[in-house]
Amino acid sequence: MPKRVALIAMVVPLLWASAGYSEGADGDAKGPRRIDKMDFGKTADGTPVELYVLKNGKMTAKVITYGAIITELHVPDAKGKTTDVVLGFDHLEGYLAGHPYFGAAVGRVANRVAKGKFTLDGKEYSLAVNNGANSLHGGLKGFDKVVWKAEEVANPAGPSLKLTYVSKDGEEGYPGNLTATVTYTVTEDDALRIDYSATTDKATPINLTNHSYFNLGGPASGNILGHELFLTADKYTPADANLIPTGEIKPVQGTPFDFTSSTPIGARFSQLKDDPIGYDLNYVLPAGGKEPTLAARVHDPESGRILEVLTTEPGIQFYTGNFLDGTLKGKGGVVYKKHQAFCLEAQHFPDSINQPNFPSTVLKPGETYTQTTVYRFLAR
Ligand code: BGC
Repeated sequence: MPKRVALIAMVVPLLWASAGYSEGADGDAKGPRRIDKMDFGKTADGTPVELYVLKNGKMTAKVITYGAIITELHVPDAKGKTTDVVLGFDHLEGYLAGHPYFGAAVGRVANRVAKGKFTLDGKEYSLAVNNGANSLHGGLKGFDKVVWKAEEVANPAGPSLKLTYVSKDGEEGYPGNLTATVTYTVTEDDALRIDYSATTDKATPINLTNHSYFNLGGPASGNILGHELFLTADKYTPADANLIPTGEIKPVQGTPFDFTSSTPIGARFSQLKDDPIGYDLNYVLPAGGKEPTLAARVHDPESGRILEVLTTEPGIQFYTGNFLDGTLKGKGGVVYKKHQAFCLEAQHFPDSINQPNFPSTVLKPGETYTQTTVYRFLAR
């Protein structure tokens, strides 16, 4: 028996039994199989990494404990043909070698903190700087590069995996011991729901997001410039050349950033000034509240797949893979080139901790941070 098959054969019945599922006399499962678990290798310091498979309805999500990364997301097209629609690697080595946050949970603070500095309760903090003079996506070793603890949780909505990480006081320069959780649930209606929570013992900024790179035709299908994007946001936060917000909030109307009616992503590239060309900006969402509300809808006319993003967050970073340069070879040997995928990262605005006009990202002891984002798939 091949090693991996043998391992699955050993682990699945154990996991299944622990989740309280039983088999009928005819051998059929009485309850649906919910989560499978596999070995996914070890980090450089020997920490084991696990892969979990969550299935429901027609959708399958694979998640690893390294970086709480979504490695695969299989969803049907208009004819019912299922394809993996996210960028990533077949093996842990690809993730360990370095990559631009494919599928990862990003924190303690997603996006940029100007000069890696901020003042909180009268004290100045200096963060690990990893993006020119700025700190990006949590610093040198953010939440995308640590091993999370996984546990299956009972959830009537579908198979649900909770990942927990305790970030120590001072880690990457951030104050306070912070316990963060990310729960992935695959629901019956072909949606991946992501619930985040965090508590701290000292005031700290926090901004968690997921950094999946989507290509609704599958990463081998080419670029995403023909995908049509609709955004509910009618405002954005202008930024300087290093993508640090100026602090203004401006209307998108009359700019190439206006996606309030569905438009092919590449249609107005000639009007953009960025180098490399493409979108990389934060939009201000109209809603933001307790229940996730529609922020974005992307339609791939080729496959018919549609992705809807719903969130409780006040902002969303739209990024078109401008820095993918053909040097990374991903799943199935596919080379990842510029604009081969897009990201829609639901979040608080970049550099919020230094921007008094922006919604606060400060979490205090006794409070609980929460955020929910849903990636829902349809096809027509
Ligand atoms: C940022 C980009 C960055 C990318 C990968 C995105 O969230 O907005 O500027 O290149 O992440 O690191």
